Amino acid sequence: MRSSPFLSFKQFVSTEHRNYIASGVRLVRAVHLRRPQVGLLDTGCLQRVARRSNLVAPIAATSEGVEPFVEFVMGSARVTTVAHRMWERIVQPGDTVVDGTCGNGSDTVALAKAAMSPDGKYGRVVGFDIQSEAIASTQSALETALTPAQMQRVELIHGCHSAISDYVGPLEARLICFNLGYLPGGDHSLITQPQTSLDAVKASMEVLMPDGLISIVAYTRHEGGQEEYDNICDLAETLSPKVWTVTTQGVMNRRKSPIMIHLHKKPLARSRQATAMYREG
Ligand SMILES: C[S@@+](CC[C@H](N)C(=O)[O-])C[C@H]1O[C@@H](n2cnc3c(N)ncnc32)[C@H](O)[C@@H]1O
Repeated sequence: MRSSPFLSFKQFVSTEHRNYIASGVRLVRAVHLRRPQVGLLDTGCLQRVARRSNLVAPIAATSEGVEPFVEFVMGSARVTTVAHRMWERIVQPGDTVVDGTCGNGSDTVALAKAAMSPDGKYGRVVGFDIQSEAIASTQSALETALTPAQMQRVELIHGCHSAISDYVGPLEARLICFNLGYLPGGDHSLITQPQTSLDAVKASMEVLMPDGLISIVAYTRHEGGQEEYDNICDLAETLSPKVWTVTTQGVMNRRKSPIMIHLHKKPLARSRQATAMYREG
């Protein structure tokens, strides 16, 4: 009989909270070594272990420490860190991903790394920006991060993200991100607009595949920012919970901090009725 990967856990048990976290991290590594198929970030596995051992804190631990979202709640992780970590979990090599607002390219690079197969044969990245300088910066950031073969599968569009469906097919994209507002350090007049952002989100809903995610970072403190955010929320609130899960996260007591909005399209259900609902949006 094979020994249980959980047996060695007792050595990690501690009464002190910080030790709980540290042991949780070691535990995940230990479990992963014995059962690589579990995956380093399998929180379900951690929960099962925690239940057996009456531990609570290690549920939040990962191979890299505490989950970024927990750090975010405690004020020590940035929105982009949380978003990137989440994308890494959702996007698989071979997926199509879209960056609706490339800017300096850091989000595009994070998406591309998750979507590209190592040999560059699979995966597709589509990026948009209305500024030619942003497209150039993103191209250069991607060239540093990807191989020439992977670069063949990147398409950067100098234009508005509301035209997304001209470039991405229906139900094709696994993840579409928008970091709204203006480029920090750039021209503040070249900013996303409430109507085109709304149009882009609506079009994204059509090209998103089941089990895909639209990930939006919105800023409300500049002119037009609140309207842009409200437009998206008004749309999101009308979406059927049978098809979409919509969530927001933000820091309420920091004036300039952004709000994350996530629209997750549920995995395709078997029934014809659910399929019809996808078509209706
Ligand atoms: C906050 S920045 C994006 C930051 C970027 N994600 C990064 O990692 O550096 C917003 C970007 O959206 C671009 N933008 C503004 N309106 C746009 C539109 N209608 N379509 C596409 N991009 C747009 C701006 O030029 C700017 O580069």
